[in-house]
Amino acid sequence: MTSAPGFAARQAALRALSRVLRQHLPLDTALSDILSASPLPVRDAGFARAIASQTLRRFGQLNALIATFAPKPIAPHRAGATLEILLAGACELLFLNVPSHAAVDGANRLAAADPKARHFKGLINAVLRRVAREGQALLDGQDAARLNTPDWLWQRWCDAYGEPCARKIALRHGELAPLDIHGKPLFAGFPAATALPGSVWRLDPGTRVESLDGFDDGLWWVQDFAATLPSRLLGGISGARVLDLCAAPGGKTAALLTDGADVTALERDPVRLERLAANLKRLGLAAELVCADLRDWKGREPYPFVLLDAPCSATGTIRRHPELPWIKSAADVTFCAALASELLDVAADLTAPRGLLVFAVCSLEPEEGAEQISRFLARRPEFRRVPVSPTEIFGLDALISAEGDLRTLPCHLSDLGGMDGFYAARLQRSD
Ligand SMILES: C[S@@+](CC[C@H](N)C(=O)[O-])C[C@H]1O[C@@H](n2cnc3c(N)ncnc32)[C@H](O)[C@@H]1O
Repeated sequence: MTSAPGFAARQAALRALSRVLRQHLPLDTALSDILSASPLPVRDAGFARAIASQTLRRFGQLNALIATFAPKPIAPHRAGATLEILLAGACELLFLNVPSHAAVDGANRLAAADPKARHFKGLINAVLRRVAREGQALLDGQDAARLNTPDWLWQRWCDAYGEPCARKIALRHGELAPLDIHGKPLFAGFPAATALPGSVWRLDPGTRVESLDGFDDGLWWVQDFAATLPSRLLGGISGARVLDLCAAPGGKTAALLTDGADVTALERDPVRLERLAANLKRLGLAAELVCADLRDWKGREPYPFVLLDAPCSATGTIRRHPELPWIKSAADVTFCAALASELLDVAADLTAPRGLLVFAVCSLEPEEGAEQISRFLARRPEFRRVPVSPTEIFGLDALISAEGDLRTLPCHLSDLGGMDGFYAARLQRSD
């Protein structure tokens, strides 16, 4: 029974969903742990990823649907993985176009293999059969943007950007992100790609990186268009010393190096730093690499250019990490903002007189972005903001805030597939 086609993929997806929803692990971590313990053929691994990630992307909608069809709430301590089986089964039916007999049968097999959920097979069958029959009609009447955004994020985005914009952001999160490739200067691009400014080539969502030419030749790296913008704010850096803080996996380091800078890249996590080193090696680029916690790193001459890409809640990358809304909370935003504030002060100390400091985060939360910078400027009067001008970012003036900072949103460049949410401010130290 357990060798039926798709069973192993569905089981991997189910385990990953349970780890994400119950232990609040990132989906990539959960899936890679599961798949390295029990490897699957590429196609099955892709199916497992599709089930888990689409279930999380549409979690609010699927949960509401199941609550409508199930006679009473499903208690996990009694029902085991019943809820996850229902969520994944409904996702297959409504978002992955799996034929109903295959999705329902797959769910039944998962239930049979779970010592608690096996007692709920009747319920699983009944609910999924109703989802197959009536689910699409209910889905059409749902407020997808609102349901797929938990209250804590919805309220923040309405406060920060207004409800119409919060809705546009949330709707973008329902879509898969495109694959953006940042080419080295002489890279000619891909015929199937859309050319974005700044040597970025946009490919369809779901394009497999391994399927693209030029990876082993080190002609390009993967980097969302929005993530290419903060390092541009340093301006002309050819031949200059640049300090790249919180550098791994190194997308921005690579951009700084291809712009001709002499880069010192600092990163706390040794495994991530190794990944950065491997990426640079593949690209034929070289930087001075430092493995250290920025707060403990001492004894350097200040740098004329400093980039701090601070750790953050990463709510600007929900399209790529659909589990984030469900595993993070407002407390994570507060924690990340406090850590980034400490790092920003150290980065400021490492900035030379008249030097430029660019602070960036891939977060949509004002505490981690504009409010962080307001507090910094109030306590560090030797710094002033240098507003971003549209010409520096290819004329895209919609990406500049009233204060003159870079503020990209997932709903920007919507016609071309959107972009990650980044905030960046450029600060200059006085003499
Ligand atoms: C947003 S990621 C950086 C992405 C990178 N700049 C890029 O473009 O590929 C933040 C990084 O900060 C690192 N980090 C977090 N706290 C740190 C600290 N105290 N000192 C140095 N690095 C730190 C994390 O390990 C993580 O790799």
